Amino acid sequence: MKALVTGATGMVGRRVVERLQKDGWQIAAWVRSEKKARAVLGGGVELVPVEEGARGLRGGCIGCDAVINLAGEPLFAQRWTDRRRSRLLESRVFLTREVVNALEGMERRPQVFVSASAVGYYGDRGEEELIETSGVGDDFLAHLCSEWEKAAIDAESLDIRVVPLRFGIVLSPTGGFLAKLLPQFKAGVGGTFGSGRQYMSWIHIDDLVEIIAMSLVDTRYRGPINAVAPAPVTNKEFAKTFGAVLSRPSIVAVPSMALKIAVGEGSEALLASQRVLPSRLVSLGFRYQYPEMSKALSNVISALE
Ligand SMILES: NC(=O)c1ccc[n+]([C@@H]2O[C@H](COP(=O)([O-])OP(=O)(O)OC[C@H]3O[C@@H](n4cnc5c(N)ncnc54)[C@H](OP(=O)(O)O)[C@@H]3O)[C@@H](O)[C@H]2O)c1
Repeated sequence: MKALVTGATGMVGRRVVERLQKDGWQIAAWVRSEKKARAVLGGGVELVPVEEGARGLRGGCIGCDAVINLAGEPLFAQRWTDRRRSRLLESRVFLTREVVNALEGMERRPQVFVSASAVGYYGDRGEEELIETSGVGDDFLAHLCSEWEKAAIDAESLDIRVVPLRFGIVLSPTGGFLAKLLPQFKAGVGGTFGSGRQYMSWIHIDDLVEIIAMSLVDTRYRGPINAVAPAPVTNKEFAKTFGAVLSRPSIVAVPSMALKIAVGEGSEALLASQRVLPSRLVSLGFRYQYPEMSKALSNVISALE
């Protein structure tokens, strides 16, 4: 079995590659820097440099049973200027189209295309319980996710099973959201964002990797799937649990305005409320290793410290 992975050097990609290699998959990775990718992924991965364009991409897909699309410019690394928004879109929507276009030109195509999306698809929805059939939101991130998913779903017309996975915030010991917050919480100055009443939907990296692995082999996985734990929490509950796991207070509140000054309009996403439920995963009988926040946080924080 062989899979082509985009975004293989990222936080999620690395873990997916590692897991699939253990399961006996051969991996080709579509990469921007061969040097970085070799250092991160080791010698056992075939590297397909992006400079080789569509022809190279098609070459990398030859013999593949699956494509896993995880690439995208980091959402919160810089302020969301117009230029930055274009980069965020291009690195997801255009890149996904490029992959689907490459697949179109192939004689023997992969059977499945698993493509990342995010719970940002739903926008800011307060306490509403959101399942896969709930409508799309109306902010920038919702628009981005919707276009990203549409670009992926185009591969259905090529007889490829498409699984857009709407990731919640990924809890991982190798970076991302928690690693950024840990120093503040450890120093006892961590706390809520804005009112703290907004819901956060999250997933432990081990469960996410398992969802991706299942999507490759179980043909019942098709169409958008919320890749989230079954128990979304309010930001206040999250801060309280984080503080409790670290045995530190978590009484500080970062006002919305301060957050906006610090991260620009990206703060909208940190303050947006998404109470997302894994309706499809539950009906597929997916078994979580980390269904609850406290267990997931304890595991990740013990590995981070
Ligand atoms: N982590 C989360 O909490 C979370 C939540 C929801 C959705 N997601 C989405 O899930 C995907 C994977 O997440 P992650 O945490 O693994 O992200 P990550 O650690 O930031 O990795 C992103 C990957 O995309 C590649 N990339 C970035 N910009 C690119 C471009 N312009 N062209 C080609 N490749 C590019 C990076 O390659 P280089 O190594 O060359 O930089 C890297 O391999 C991302 O699209 C992310 O938006 C993540």
